[in-house]
Amino acid sequence: MSSPVAMQFPLSARSARTTDSPISWLMKLAVEDPEILSLAAGFVDTKTLPNDLTRGAINRLFDKGDDAKNALQYGLTAGLKDLRLALAARLEKQGIPDVDPDCIVISNGGQQGLYTITEVLCDVGDVVLVEDPTYFVYMDVLKSAGAHTLGINTDEEGVIPSALEERFEELHREGLRDRLRILYVMSYYANPKGSNMSTERRRQIYDIYQRELQRGTPFVLIEDASYRDLCLEGKDEPFLKSFDPENEFVFTTGTFSKAFAPGFRLGWSYMPPDLHRAMCRQKGNQDFGSSNMNQTILADLLRSGDYDTAAERFRDRYRAKRDALLAAMKEFWPSDVELVYPYGGLYVWAKLPGVNTDPGSDFFNACLEQKVIYVPGYYCFCDKTQDPKPVDTMRICYGVIDIDPMREAVRRMGAVIERFRKKR
Ligand SMILES: Cc1ncc(COP(=O)(O)O)c(C=O)c1O
Repeated sequence: MSSPVAMQFPLSARSARTTDSPISWLMKLAVEDPEILSLAAGFVDTKTLPNDLTRGAINRLFDKGDDAKNALQYGLTAGLKDLRLALAARLEKQGIPDVDPDCIVISNGGQQGLYTITEVLCDVGDVVLVEDPTYFVYMDVLKSAGAHTLGINTDEEGVIPSALEERFEELHREGLRDRLRILYVMSYYANPKGSNMSTERRRQIYDIYQRELQRGTPFVLIEDASYRDLCLEGKDEPFLKSFDPENEFVFTTGTFSKAFAPGFRLGWSYMPPDLHRAMCRQKGNQDFGSSNMNQTILADLLRSGDYDTAAERFRDRYRAKRDALLAAMKEFWPSDVELVYPYGGLYVWAKLPGVNTDPGSDFFNACLEQKVIYVPGYYCFCDKTQDPKPVDTMRICYGVIDIDPMREAVRRMGAVIERFRKKR
């Protein structure tokens, strides 16, 4: 019998727009060669993952006998009420007034929340403003939706107010303002830049957003607060959402991945009621709700204080790792490498003046020969970015790699940087 010919099924336009994540090849490199020291992987610290606390909560649940069965049943699309109540209480303590648990959606990671709100708001050809550089996985979501991404320049406090105003003016000039649907900002320790907004910057950005709302079609401010629980130094800044006390404008999203465990695949978002209804309709089509069992366990972890215990452990560990990373960079890298100091989160953004760090560049390949990889900044800039697009940046992650191999990776990379400098 002749071997079957592979079918060429016609894909939807959305599928055709959806490409592999640009960094999946980086992850593949690391998986295929265990000797590679990856400063690219965005995973969390494996050693700190809370086995003990998770086991305790699971035991408490199943010690309840038949009462535990609800956890094994289908649940609500918006998420387990008990978890939404615990989260609402937590968000109020963190400064958001009168949080309505019925305006919270629990999702499969923060990622599903971002995906779903984009489905709710964007059609092909719509415009989304993002800070530049930005979270590249969200750019994949926007690309898949057919949205155009316009970058707003950032400094170490994130979005620069005047750059945001300029982008709005540009949209008016080009007749695109009515296509604007989302302004996406990371309000804490951004991925990839590690930038963190001061209270004053938050106020400025919120005020500019409010002024712009008066000038055309309404659009949503998405506040991605995924790294809020990883404050390593300094004070907690207020959520952008706290400037929206009536819950009318801002969609704030966060995750339980970074300070507890990504394996739970649970995240949350808090939003105005009409968006909540639309989100639940979309999420209902996807899955009828996130895992009821995981949500039940997490609600216990939040209420018992075990979530905070885990978060504290992660912060201690990341503080030590961040400091070790910065010390190694100081020791092994030229002094003119520019770093954004991370007050929290998992990333250091580095600019290597005069060195092209792009994927496939000689520098990237030389690092690879030394068995070291990083995320080229190239992937983090959006469709309409700075002109010219920067070619000399990289994201270094201290999340999963241990301190000794991290130090060794930085040492090897330092030698490559020196070599490239001499060549110039
Ligand atoms: C900025 C940002 N937002 C959202 C997410 C989504 O994370 P998760 O789906 O694990 O909650 C991530 C993950 O790395 C992130 O970096």
